[in-house]
Amino acid sequence: MTSETLTIIDNRTGKKYEVPIRDGAINATDLRQIRIGEDDVGLVSDDPAFMNTASCQSKITFIDGDKGILRYRGYPIEQLAENSTYLETAYLVLYGDLPNKAQMEDWTYNITHHSILHENIKKFIDGFHHDAHPMGMLVTAVGALSTFYTDAKNIFDVESRKKQTYRLIAKMPTIAAFAYRHSIGMPYSYPDNDLSYTGNFLNMLLKMTELKYRPDPVLEKALDVLFILHADHEQNCSTNAMRSVGSSHADPYCAVAAATAALYGPLHGGANEAVLRMLMEIGSKSKVPEFVKKVKEGQGRLMGFGHRVYKNYDPRAKIIKQIADQVFEVRGRNPLLDIALELERIALEDDYFIKRKLYPNVDFYTGLIYQSIGFPTDMFAVLFAIPRTSGWIAQWEEMLMDPEQKIARPRQIYKGADKRDYVAMERRK
Ligand code: CMC
Repeated sequence: MTSETLTIIDNRTGKKYEVPIRDGAINATDLRQIRIGEDDVGLVSDDPAFMNTASCQSKITFIDGDKGILRYRGYPIEQLAENSTYLETAYLVLYGDLPNKAQMEDWTYNITHHSILHENIKKFIDGFHHDAHPMGMLVTAVGALSTFYTDAKNIFDVESRKKQTYRLIAKMPTIAAFAYRHSIGMPYSYPDNDLSYTGNFLNMLLKMTELKYRPDPVLEKALDVLFILHADHEQNCSTNAMRSVGSSHADPYCAVAAATAALYGPLHGGANEAVLRMLMEIGSKSKVPEFVKKVKEGQGRLMGFGHRVYKNYDPRAKIIKQIADQVFEVRGRNPLLDIALELERIALEDDYFIKRKLYPNVDFYTGLIYQSIGFPTDMFAVLFAIPRTSGWIAQWEEMLMDPEQKIARPRQIYKGADKRDYVAMERRK
């Protein structure tokens, strides 16, 4: 009979310890009993960048990185991409089950009817330079919502959390679209309640002088599927920021602002923008081998490749490749596609990438699709932040309701100077 425990022998003292294994993990605090003396605070685990540390238990998203599996609440991403809508998927991610008809109607009504921004929020956006990055504007404006909805502080009130959830999911596209219109000097286009979530987003971005904006159904659907693929991705950098800031009991607008800021970086949500810049820099198919050689020599990275968890083809990248074909049929083939396909072909045959299990990730083809739909490069990370808001809120709520969670506070291993005495200025070297 096997026992669900781990036996540790501390060779410094010869002492033996038995710690329980639960769900394939040991609790790091069980290591604290392993001490060499009275003054010793006990053993800690050293894990910069959380390479092998679970920070929570979660029921939201399942990933098997070796097999290339992604599921929200048990449902395979492929089935959701084919059959669901972003709003339905957001409901699933947030509340754990697919909605019935009445729940879906109620959910859609509430999201649709919270999309307008307070007019004063527009003044924030007006204050930015014309060339301000839309992610910077999004971080600022969503954080500012905290000052408009002071009831958001009541984070342990179910009704308040529900209300902030509607507001956040409904208003993120409006802020994003207003930021975009500001950057191109166009008047803001207000939400249209007759349209779908993504149809309305396109309306707020692209409406010109026509009385009624009608989104192209292929582009509207493509964007909706992209939103489904980005709804959640368990404990990544931005979700960790959401949980960490939320753990201090800050309101959800502040926590979403922090998560959005984390997403801004080129190693996370900024990667799709970086992919497009990389493809433009390569310039032509014939220059791909030279570029790959440079990457292997350590001069930069192949953006859109590699993932902390997926050591196989990212399942989202497979779906995105199909959407790309549909979008290119409507908008014409993106000339950068040939460079991307050649990069993928060469990298997948190259020992450097094979050995390190580097495959295309979600960002490799999304930039090409966004560009073909007509989004400027600066908007790409914003298109990640909008759908990820549902995942962030689901993770935040799960963290708040989890009795095991406390304020996030990692340990450190101090390597600085020992105690030394203060030296007066005139005696310093
Ligand atoms: N191009 C070239 N080499 C790479 C790449 C890449 N894209 N990614 C990893 N490597 C190499 C890296 O140099 C290292 O090699 P060595 O063992 O010789 O030092 C090895 O592979 C392991 O890399 P790592 O940096 O330790 O891996 P990580 O898990 O810390 O990083 C990553 C994951 C996504 C940050 C990284 O793969 C990367 O920078 N990719 C490019 C940026 C990108 O596409 N990001 C989007 C990720 S998916 C969307 C999201 O989650 O936001």
